[in-house]
Amino acid sequence: MSFIVAANWKMHKTPEETTEFFLRFLDIVESPGIKKIFFIPAVNALATANSIGFSNIGWGPQNIFPAAEGAYTGETSPKVMADLGAQYVLVGHSERRRLFHETNELINKKILSAQEFSLNPVLCIGETLEERKQGQTLAVLQKQLEVGLSHVEVLKELHIAYEPVWAIGTGEVASPEQVKEAHQYIRRFLAKKYPEHHASINILYGGSVKIDSAKDLSQVDQVSGFLIGGASLKADSLQQIIQVVRNEG
Ligand code: PGA
Repeated sequence: MSFIVAANWKMHKTPEETTEFFLRFLDIVESPGIKKIFFIPAVNALATANSIGFSNIGWGPQNIFPAAEGAYTGETSPKVMADLGAQYVLVGHSERRRLFHETNELINKKILSAQEFSLNPVLCIGETLEERKQGQTLAVLQKQLEVGLSHVEVLKELHIAYEPVWAIGTGEVASPEQVKEAHQYIRRFLAKKYPEHHASINILYGGSVKIDSAKDLSQVDQVSGFLIGGASLKADSLQQIIQVVRNEG
């Protein structure tokens, strides 16, 4: 599968700004061989679906509740998202884990529910600075993978995003060595769990990816995509990163 450049817009953009972004992005983007996915605020689903049209850009929400419908005030239904044309969903982002107390068990339910409604999950995992300092990084990743992927099969597409919490939104990007160690570990885990299908699983890196760091990181062993927050909000800066990755490919 091709290199993935995924955007995480977090809680940014109105429907109008979404439309404006895609008008510009579709105008400038030129990148055969790079798969592009946008994780948009769920309220902008319609604006996104209408803007993207029949281009081969993928999109989805940043979170779902693991049920089609029901008495879940304030939550987002995977069924509705799929109905609007979403193909992907971000699950277990560290901001959801930290600010909304999402556990590995809940994250696991969300992945299973996403698959039930034909949304391809991108599972986010990563250690905090404290966990890294205590030498717990690989143990944390193991737990997040073990519980998060419990009973999960590789249907259509399944992806993992390694996002060290200390590198998210901080400008402090992980070093290629740190990324390599984590990604190789994740690959070994996946190879053991899914001996026949793990090759189709992309492992994305996320955490302060910018134009300056994109080149080196894209060449690290087992990095087959990026999940980009801040630098994905402007069409031109995102396209510049895509261009760098493409030239390296
Ligand atoms: P960042 O965010 O690129 O702004 O660090 C990445 C993410 O949270 O997915």
